Amino acid sequence: MEKLLQDAAARGIRYRREINDRSVAPSAEAIARLEVFREPLPAQGCAPEVLLKRLDEYGSPASMGMVGPRFFGFVIGGSMPVTVASNWLSSAWDQNVGMHKITPAAAIIEEVVLGWLIEIFDLPGDCGAGFVTGCTVANFSALAAARSKVLADAGWDVEADGLAGAPEITVLVGGEAHPTLLKSLGMLGLGRNRVVRMAVDQQGQVIAEQVPEIKGPTIVCLQAGNLNSGGFDPIGAICDRLEGTGAWVHVDGAFGLWAAASPKYRRLVPGLGKADSWATDAHKWLNVPQDSGIALVRHAQYLKRAMAITADYLPTDTQFRNPSDYTPELSRRARGVDVWAALRYLGRDGVARLIENCCEHAERFGKGLRKAGFEVLNDVVLNQVVVVFGDAETTLKIIDEIQRDGTCWCGSTVWRGQTAMRISVCNWSTTIADVERSLDVIIRIAKEHT
Ligand SMILES: Cc1ncc(COP(=O)(O)O)c(C=O)c1O
Repeated sequence: MEKLLQDAAARGIRYRREINDRSVAPSAEAIARLEVFREPLPAQGCAPEVLLKRLDEYGSPASMGMVGPRFFGFVIGGSMPVTVASNWLSSAWDQNVGMHKITPAAAIIEEVVLGWLIEIFDLPGDCGAGFVTGCTVANFSALAAARSKVLADAGWDVEADGLAGAPEITVLVGGEAHPTLLKSLGMLGLGRNRVVRMAVDQQGQVIAEQVPEIKGPTIVCLQAGNLNSGGFDPIGAICDRLEGTGAWVHVDGAFGLWAAASPKYRRLVPGLGKADSWATDAHKWLNVPQDSGIALVRHAQYLKRAMAITADYLPTDTQFRNPSDYTPELSRRARGVDVWAALRYLGRDGVARLIENCCEHAERFGKGLRKAGFEVLNDVVLNQVVVVFGDAETTLKIIDEIQRDGTCWCGSTVWRGQTAMRISVCNWSTTIADVERSLDVIIRIAKEHT
């Protein structure tokens, strides 16, 4: 066992050490070699070191260099080494984090992390939280609590009686809501399409003055951090308008919620704490390994009402927090440990620096591209840059060449009807030199085609 785990660690360490020197995107040859995995189910197994070697020899080169400093696609963090290390150790524990009585270490660590997150985001002290797979499920979990509360206020127990015959819930979403938020609404029986869209401005931000009048049970979904522009809905202003209406205000802050962790960028989320629930990712801007989202809910009892179960065989009676009371899953890994490691390592100031560095890098990208004569479509207020290089065909061709060059990786998007390239800076290890090197390549390729 020891040799095997050391072999895995050595291979992982080599992968991380070499990430800076390889092409960010895997080569076509490396992808072609993946055919080796398409074998029939073997009748007999093999030695563990043999399969590990195969995984590394064929899998590693064909992986996307997402953990490297010049991956700017989607909104993806790169897992700080300390969080990979804590992840390895907690994988060795392999705790099934449901009940405090069974997994006290993981349960207590999560409880502590919850307190730290409340402090970082400056949220109400009695919030409840679920440590889930990502922001999609964080949105789902928080909205399940919202559904529970607005229907309970209308005299309906949705957990017991379902939605058939329930009072109708109006759901308001911003015109630029993330598709996973709509998917969460669909999974909750609230429908992806029966939402009322709120008007947004040029940066995709909801216009507070145009939020419709509230009648009956209502859930209002806002966004902190638009995945293209990085823009923010005016959360505080909307909460003020809705005060006394009984509407539940939810904030999808997959990455943008982390602006609250920085004294410099906190101004982007005035009134954040006035909302009722918040969803975010740790695997994006906090740079912990994938599979780490967090649902935070002001009215913890409603999250618990939506998620908690009892069974004769489950030792749920305890004075402590049972993690599975707040998540859709009963069985899951100890993902709160990764969040603990990140926060314990960085401290409050380190988290702020991480956020600010990424935003400054995005600003540098924006300025460099504008100086080179290209049109940046968004106000670069956070870590996102949206740039066009002419018509859709030219822009897509340039993006394709940038990806194939391998120095950096940026993806495409359509922003307010225009095909564009999106740069998202989320990685803890990105330096000014990485930005300059990437800018050189982007500008050279773009100029060759325009
Ligand atoms: C605003 C927003 N909400 C939700 C999500 C979904 O997050 P996840 O992929 O972690 O489920 C994303 C992903 O980029 C996002 O940007």
